[in-house]
Amino acid sequence: MTAPAPTSEREARQIEAAEETSMSGDDNVSSKTEGFSTRHASALMRTLGTPLAVLERGEGAWVWDVDGKRYLDFLAGIAVNSLGHASPVVAAVAARQAATLVHVSNYFATPSQIALAERLCRLTGAGELGRVYFGNSGAEAMEAAFKLARRNCVDGRHRIIALQNSFHGRTMGALALTGKASLQDPFRPMLAGVDHIDSTIAALEAAMDDSVAALVLEPIKGEAGVLPLPDGYLQRARELTRQHGSLLIIDEIQTGVGRTGEWFAYQHDGIVPDAVAIAKGIAGGIPIGALVTFGEASSLLIRGDHGSTFGGNPFATAVADAVLTEIEDAGLVQNAAVRGDQLRAVIQAIDSPLVVDVRGRGLMIGVGIADGRAQEVADRALEAGLILNAPNSDSLRIVPPLIIGDDEVAAFADLFARTLRSLEEPTS
Ligand SMILES: Cc1ncc(COP(=O)(O)O)c(C=O)c1O
Repeated sequence: MTAPAPTSEREARQIEAAEETSMSGDDNVSSKTEGFSTRHASALMRTLGTPLAVLERGEGAWVWDVDGKRYLDFLAGIAVNSLGHASPVVAAVAARQAATLVHVSNYFATPSQIALAERLCRLTGAGELGRVYFGNSGAEAMEAAFKLARRNCVDGRHRIIALQNSFHGRTMGALALTGKASLQDPFRPMLAGVDHIDSTIAALEAAMDDSVAALVLEPIKGEAGVLPLPDGYLQRARELTRQHGSLLIIDEIQTGVGRTGEWFAYQHDGIVPDAVAIAKGIAGGIPIGALVTFGEASSLLIRGDHGSTFGGNPFATAVADAVLTEIEDAGLVQNAAVRGDQLRAVIQAIDSPLVVDVRGRGLMIGVGIADGRAQEVADRALEAGLILNAPNSDSLRIVPPLIIGDDEVAAFADLFARTLRSLEEPTS
């Protein structure tokens, strides 16, 4: 596929910059992608798989690879690029803040750090009793959550309950919370004290007692294939954790920041947690993570308990504050709800035998795929110019930028229908 003609001066400038970047690739190979992939394989650690494409620029919900192929990006850096690619909001605030103040250390405060913390206390519902810790990633937010839980290990409480098949990150504390043996096994022993239970209300009721310091959960399990908790689960979790003096810690790293059609997914259920972990979409792609504590939980971590050199720096916090302002001003939380419903209807209307079910909320969509063919569907979609992913063999995950409108929904409908139709043919 060749690149379409530039539609704006900005796009023309991007193409020029991208062409300059590509010049540094090896031109003696059949495609720039191949050249970069070879270099990737010999320079990057093997923790990463072979790249699906080598991307060099983007605009809105679209990205282009080094060979000029255009893709509709409905993965958005795995629920990160809330405002899409090359967002003018992110570009402007990042340039301004980079030319003003980037880093100062935790011996000092900055206006943007304070403003972002205040905004997060308001948006999460933590209010005046809320307190915010800033790190640089989701896993770091979960490390802080782990320490919070350990600080609640008093009065006989010593257990942390988490869910099987959950994902909370890959650092050792976050990994101990993650309910996947395949990720944990190579790195045992895990931190002690975490029990993983089934995601049913019955299993929760059986597990909860006065020995539980914290219950940690994702409202919708993203890495497991966009699997929502059962109806009523969060309310029951809130009741039981209150009853036993346990913290309710909600990992909104993937579900948060408007993605599900509320600022945070627990708000659909009308409950208030003791702590919420946030990262991914909060700064449109600039690394930052946060743990917001509520009420009495705000006094558990004390001076010296935790910290991070880069955490809460003026650069990342200024960008995050601007991204959240834009999400509020442009009504993108509501857009996520509306566009999510449209996309679910589009997927159902394709009426493909490959689609088993459509799950999730707002712009966090899971599609159940028949016969373990999810990776095949994702690969074929990529060939057609549509980026989505298959977290497991039965599920596709669709998490586009929150800014998508009619054009992107229509483009998705066309590309996804073509992808599914091409795979419905008997393979013989
Ligand atoms: C629910 C959840 N928690 C934690 C993490 C870890 O975040 P990070 O990759 O920023 O460390 C992720 C990342 O996918 C996630 O989806």
